Amino acid sequence: MQKIAFKHLKAGDEIGLVPTMGALHNGHISLIEKSAKNDDITIVSIFVNPVQFGHGEDYLKYPRPVKKDLEICKKNRVDYAFMPSVKDMFPQEHKAFVEVKALQDIMCGAFRPVHFRGVVTAVSKLFNISFADRAYFGMKDFQQLKIIEKMAKDLSFRTKIVPCPIVREKNGLALSSRNSYLSDEEKAVSLNISKSLKEAAKEFKSKSLSAVKNSAISKLKKIPNSKIDYAEIVSASDLSPAYRNTKKVVFAVAVWVGKTRLIDNIQMTK
Ligand code: PAJ
Repeated sequence: MQKIAFKHLKAGDEIGLVPTMGALHNGHISLIEKSAKNDDITIVSIFVNPVQFGHGEDYLKYPRPVKKDLEICKKNRVDYAFMPSVKDMFPQEHKAFVEVKALQDIMCGAFRPVHFRGVVTAVSKLFNISFADRAYFGMKDFQQLKIIEKMAKDLSFRTKIVPCPIVREKNGLALSSRNSYLSDEEKAVSLNISKSLKEAAKEFKSKSLSAVKNSAISKLKKIPNSKIDYAEIVSASDLSPAYRNTKKVVFAVAVWVGKTRLIDNIQMTK
């Protein structure tokens, strides 16, 4: 892949990269479409990255519908679907890891200690393999997006990070490969996550940060079989706790519904 990408680089092609773990849905497709529009070449990586899963997480059961994913790539004018093996990406002797201090330890990082180090290491490798001019990341994983932006800046990667809006089902549920774990009943009650966030954004116009937060938390707590990992209102620029005067604010949550961990967020403006 690196040799092919280098040929494109030398030929003057602009290269777009869409890193994914597969089980592609309309959220991923929106990223692919953006790259197909902006770049001469679109590379989609499909790699269920073992180093970003902690012990007891869903690495083994993560969906891997390879054939369907490749069909989606073909249909959406992807030039290369890069599907490395675990041995290619992380052979036993692999020792180098990339970390983004502080940002990796808060929010999702507080509950998934090795997660972001694994994400950032895999994404750094993908940037080096693809020589990407642009790489596309969804705002659904807002913390991940911020961490990758910081990594790309601090380590002087040539790749420009392009943030892409959250794609939702008509009823508001944020699309996620993990939604396939949900039973119909769980799916129905999971709507209350995006609904609570939408209501929070409305309340934010007139209420205090703590009132907005508490009202959302009490709604999330009412979801049957749920457990809140966190619900935090943070600065959209650096994920620090938001204050009354913080300009751009994001309300981010991680909520378990049964055995499935869902994340979602919303930008809030006065
Ligand atoms: P994955 O969960 O497959 O997501 C791949 C990309 O699609 C991420 O940038 C994610 O934010 C984006 N995405 C997922 N659901 C979305 C939605 N509903 N709307 C918009 N974008 C959405 O995130 C990962 O994989 C991995 O951590 C990865 C970056 C590939 C590193 O292994």
